[in-house]
Amino acid sequence: MRFDRRTLSAVLLAVCGAAIAMPVFAEEASTAPAPAIIPLPASLEMDGGCFHPGKVVHFAITGKLTDRRAIASLAHEVLRDAWHHPVTIASARERVDLRLVLAADAGANPESYTLRIARDGIVIRAATETGLFHGLQTLRQIAAPGSDAGAGIPALHISDQPRFRYRGLMLDSARHMQPLAAIKQQLDLMARYKFNTFHWHLTDDQGWRIEIKRYPKLASISSMRKETVIGNPDNGATARDGIPYGGYYTQAQAREIVAYARARHIDVIPEIDMPGHMVAALAAYPELACTPGPFDVYTTWGVSDDILCPSPQTFAFVEGVLDEVMAIFPSHYIHVGGDEAPTTRWIQSALAQDIIRREGLKDEHALQGWFLRRVEAFVRAHGRTIIGWDEILEGGASPTATVMSWRGMQGGIDAVRLGHDVVMSPTSHAYLDYCQSKARSEPPCIGNDLPLRKVYEFEPVPDGLTAEQSAHILGGQGNLWTEYLKTPQDVQYMLFPRSLALAEVLWSPKQARDWNGFLLRLPAQLAELDRLHVKYRPLGAQ
Ligand code: ACM
Repeated sequence: MRFDRRTLSAVLLAVCGAAIAMPVFAEEASTAPAPAIIPLPASLEMDGGCFHPGKVVHFAITGKLTDRRAIASLAHEVLRDAWHHPVTIASARERVDLRLVLAADAGANPESYTLRIARDGIVIRAATETGLFHGLQTLRQIAAPGSDAGAGIPALHISDQPRFRYRGLMLDSARHMQPLAAIKQQLDLMARYKFNTFHWHLTDDQGWRIEIKRYPKLASISSMRKETVIGNPDNGATARDGIPYGGYYTQAQAREIVAYARARHIDVIPEIDMPGHMVAALAAYPELACTPGPFDVYTTWGVSDDILCPSPQTFAFVEGVLDEVMAIFPSHYIHVGGDEAPTTRWIQSALAQDIIRREGLKDEHALQGWFLRRVEAFVRAHGRTIIGWDEILEGGASPTATVMSWRGMQGGIDAVRLGHDVVMSPTSHAYLDYCQSKARSEPPCIGNDLPLRKVYEFEPVPDGLTAEQSAHILGGQGNLWTEYLKTPQDVQYMLFPRSLALAEVLWSPKQARDWNGFLLRLPAQLAELDRLHVKYRPLGAQ
């Protein structure tokens, strides 16, 4: 038998016996089988032969890790799931099936790693524990669970690092909240696909979801709405369901999420949306508004004219809230919202107009800029950085503020030209609450269409920027608003598989992006989601 490349590929498949797809891949494309990895690694070369684990799978960790136990436990899980053989940690000198090496010279990017699978063993090298973590997630996809107990995996060499340093998903827990277990499962899945930021939208008109000890009525009053609109108010719906809805996360629970995420190398960015989207807080503390109230926690979707008044009481409230929020969430960024704050009440408010005169401000948009710059100074004095929706540019944002561009890409383009850092999350490609097709059978969703392919086509760096401006684009984020998503299953249906497309956009090299290759690699991931009981939208569902 002559071993040309093509027969060799077939033999590899037969010998390794692992679940393998045939994506189009670099120059090996038409011949060598490559594992179905999402997101696609920056570089992957198939070598000849296969690795087969021993009857007991040994692994070893070399280097000075701060959390050796966490990496050991993940390695154990990945190896056990792959082969169902007993797994044991070995001393550094024995022959081992998997060696994890932490070495300062193993890569310049703090998230990079190399993964070499050879006949005599697997080695993952990285300069950080995050790199080792990502390498193990890649190995998990290669050594696909569900393959035969004796199955081997193909020899290969991966050298990988992310294209963007910010790879986020936002979850709205204000409109509907999710059980902690569901959020943890989402974090587990995010880690598999190498997301590193969980933006947690915790407050809105329809509910305040984080315990603040200095303001106890946020838990007792602001967290509850007496009922919820049925259907879409944009289509004229007004009827309410008559069912009280609410709840909040205690500070201990929020800390539990932060720790869970951190163990998966994910930062949690809390959002306290201001000065708009604050009706729930005004229901408990009406003195923070420009008009006397009373206010009810909002029972419909949309934007309210009732926002925070820029008064001394409001600043005391905001600072009191942020003090506790910063104590819970150690993230570099604190999200202060800034979106959809109508100027109606400030136009009518003597207090607001006095500030405009006193500070020589142009108008109410400039007043919002003044408001958020004050908040930014407070956050910065605590060693943190604010991030806000792109409206924060309208009133003149502090240069140290990072901008999250949602009303298309233009806000982000304007922001990088002004020297801001930017995260791109445009409605056109990154709003995962939008419908996945035009079919009437889609579950309730926002009317605009965002099919899987369009998410895959998302390009966070627009044409026409200088290299320096492009470098200010930190990455991108998918946003999941939950007006119509009541259960964790509803949330998963919108997140999967679209978040896998987004994962590849944000991690893989731009030139490696390949829709057909992605589609070939996707079924192996969907099989894994099935195994994990994740409810995703089936491919081609009508
Ligand atoms: C937003 O979608 N209002 C940021």
